Amino acid sequence: MTLYRCLQTEGATGSSKMKWIVAALAVCILVPRAHCASESVAWCYHDSSCSYTQWPTIAPKYCNGSRQSPIDIVPASAETDSNLTSFSFTNFGSTTHLDEISNTGKTVKVTLKSGVSISGGDLPESYDSLQFHLHWGKGSSVPGSEHTVDGKRYPMELHIVNSKGSYNGNTTQAVADSTGLAALGFFIEAMSGDETGKPESWKKLASYLSNISNSGDHISIPSGISLDDLLPGVDRSKYYRYLGSLTTPNCNEAVVWTVFKEPVKVSKDLIDLFSTTVHIGNSSSLLMTNVYRGIQKAQKVTTQSSSASNTCYSLGLMALSLILGKA
Ligand SMILES: *[C@@H]1O[C@H](CO)[C@@H](O)[C@H](O)[C@H]1NC(C)=O
Ligand SMILES: *[C@@H]1O[C@H](CO)[C@@H](O)[C@H](O)[C@H]1NC(C)=O
Ligand SMILES: *[C@@H]1O[C@H](CO)[C@@H](O)[C@H](O)[C@H]1NC(C)=O
Ligand SMILES: *[C@@H]1O[C@H](CO)[C@@H](O)[C@H](O)[C@H]1NC(C)=O
Ligand SMILES: *[C@@H]1O[C@H](CO)[C@@H](O)[C@H](O)[C@H]1NC(C)=O
Ligand SMILES: [Zn+2]
Repeated sequence: MTLYRCLQTEGATGSSKMKWIVAALAVCILVPRAHCASESVAWCYHDSSCSYTQWPTIAPKYCNGSRQSPIDIVPASAETDSNLTSFSFTNFGSTTHLDEISNTGKTVKVTLKSGVSISGGDLPESYDSLQFHLHWGKGSSVPGSEHTVDGKRYPMELHIVNSKGSYNGNTTQAVADSTGLAALGFFIEAMSGDETGKPESWKKLASYLSNISNSGDHISIPSGISLDDLLPGVDRSKYYRYLGSLTTPNCNEAVVWTVFKEPVKVSKDLIDLFSTTVHIGNSSSLLMTNVYRGIQKAQKVTTQSSSASNTCYSLGLMALSLILGKA
């Protein structure tokens, strides 16, 4: 999960660096929610001198911490917590709340208009949904999700970033709170077979990639797609929960993670577009591939109920209905 909003200076030199700074200042003035603070660490995914194995050295304050994300989720070790109730999703069904899609040089990010929020799910309060972005590998055959499940890495992972409502979008305050942010992680799985352009919502989303092929590019998204449209087929009452961090520097340990068990299915051609369309810099720079952080130290993971107790519960119900039926 990424939260940086402004300065991205690595790889930029001379006048292009100046352009970045001007662009960053413009963003800060135009978008009151953006906080440029001190995001100036030069990190990357592609070069061994700045890729994630180096983050503990180049951003040691948090990236070398003990509550880091992503992690490998081991379902058999997840503890049951009956407090993990379902969520309420406000304006996830709205087709007018996706604001702007941008190429940050590290990911493809979609900002959300205000009014989208989540609550429930054992979160301490309501959280405002600020943006979503993606992590991927290299096409549908080289997976690039951040979290893994029993070591399985999915082709992509979508992160919806939410900030505690009481901070009013001030992410400086949110990252200073151990539960200031709530991230929703959705795995993207390739559809089997040779279907193309599915689902329609993802076809639309992917169609904007050609408009943002260079870092810093952004366009506004016409109305027509909702968050619900992008998350078809996922039972959002089934998830894993743990306390972790941002998965990009400065890796602040401020994130309540929710990783949904069921993946979103997207056709291979659309998954492939992400690693073949957007560049990490200008048109002569590398394509954006393998944009994910490696697995960090395990954390305690909880979930609603194990499949064993589900079975137990339904057996119990069956027995009960047999008894009642006889009475
Ligand atoms: C990271 O933390 C460990 C202890 O948890 C320490 O031994 C190591 O020196 C730290 N590395 C850096 C680069 O700060
Ligand atoms: C559920 O929430 C209650 C009240 O906050 C708490 O006392 C209890 O420990 C929680 N249960 C688990 C399994 O965390
Ligand atoms: C965000 O909160 C910090 C810390 O309380 C404060 O210094 C800063 O001015 C706030 N930013 C905005 C835009 O309100
Ligand atoms: C996006 O690119 C398409 C062609 O690929 C073009 O027709 C369209 O006008 C562009 N949209 C914006 C907002 O730039
Ligand atoms: C792309 O960026 C590089 C490095 O900043 C620069 O040397 C090159 O001239 C740029 N190319 C184009 C086509 O803008
Ligand atoms: Zn992310």
